[in-house]
Amino acid sequence: MVATAAQELAPLTEDQVREHLAAGKLVEGLQHMSPSYLEGMRRILTVSADTEFVSAPSYLRAAGHAPALNNFGSAMSIIQDELAHAHIGYRLLGDLGVDMDWLIYERPAQQFKYPYAFDVPLNSWVELVCANAMYDQAGFVLLSDVYRSSTFGPWKRALAKVDKEETFHLRHGRTWLKKLCKDPAGRAEVQAAVDWMFILTLEWFGLPDERKQHSEQLDFGFKGKSNDELRQWWMSEVVPFMQEIGIRVPAHLDEGLDRYVIDCPFPARFDEDKREWLLEDGAIDWDDVLVRWRARGPMNRDYVTTLQRGYQTTSLRRAA
Ligand SMILES: [Fe+2]
Ligand SMILES: [Fe+2]
Repeated sequence: MVATAAQELAPLTEDQVREHLAAGKLVEGLQHMSPSYLEGMRRILTVSADTEFVSAPSYLRAAGHAPALNNFGSAMSIIQDELAHAHIGYRLLGDLGVDMDWLIYERPAQQFKYPYAFDVPLNSWVELVCANAMYDQAGFVLLSDVYRSSTFGPWKRALAKVDKEETFHLRHGRTWLKKLCKDPAGRAEVQAAVDWMFILTLEWFGLPDERKQHSEQLDFGFKGKSNDELRQWWMSEVVPFMQEIGIRVPAHLDEGLDRYVIDCPFPARFDEDKREWLLEDGAIDWDDVLVRWRARGPMNRDYVTTLQRGYQTTSLRRAA
């Protein structure tokens, strides 16, 4: 993704791209891109495709704890959807000049760009359905925003299908959580999972707006809402639902401000082995969070190895 390669592939100037967009047209391929549009689109597509891709081994690990065979079947259908979503993103990246074999099968695990939350293992069926209710809700919020706002036509059109499938995933999570929370023992298990997963999902939306690094994502209409607006949107879906089923979360609606307020130190230090937030240490700087994100978490290597194993151990590679 070096600048010279981008210049060769993406022939337009920044002003030409802006004129094209101002005329109400979508970007359909490299012929409509400038180098910085191309680099920015590659970045956001890589994060999206990597997130979909790694959710498959993460959910598969937890699906092994399904209480019955038909529940396992539902989880497998979600995993199949996620692999198809990843395929859409990687295929578009291939069209944008990225070497797909390297990107998917040869890239070192640490260079994958999905949210840190997926580096923390899901160890039970309860944790899987909590992930459906919170992580898939985050995916839904982010992709619905891209679907509405993206200026890249091929991705925008593909997301019509992805949006519907994500709705199924998060409904799967909510239906299960409602059922589990009718019973005190089930509610306690859900509460224990939400205690670490809720704050990890708050982090999912990235740096706060005043620290945001990639302004082209909004400037070029790659997405419509800022990180903090998306975090608010996610809380507006998840917090009332958790309250309804009797699960405590560290956030509430401030009616005076008309926005959700986080009630615990945030961002905070996380013990990834115990899967506990060290909230008594108080809030930390986002720079410290970036160090944890960049180091990746406990399951990173394991999941990427699982995803790359077939390619690494067979000769079914693309002809040169
Ligand atoms: Fe997905
Ligand atoms: Fe999903």
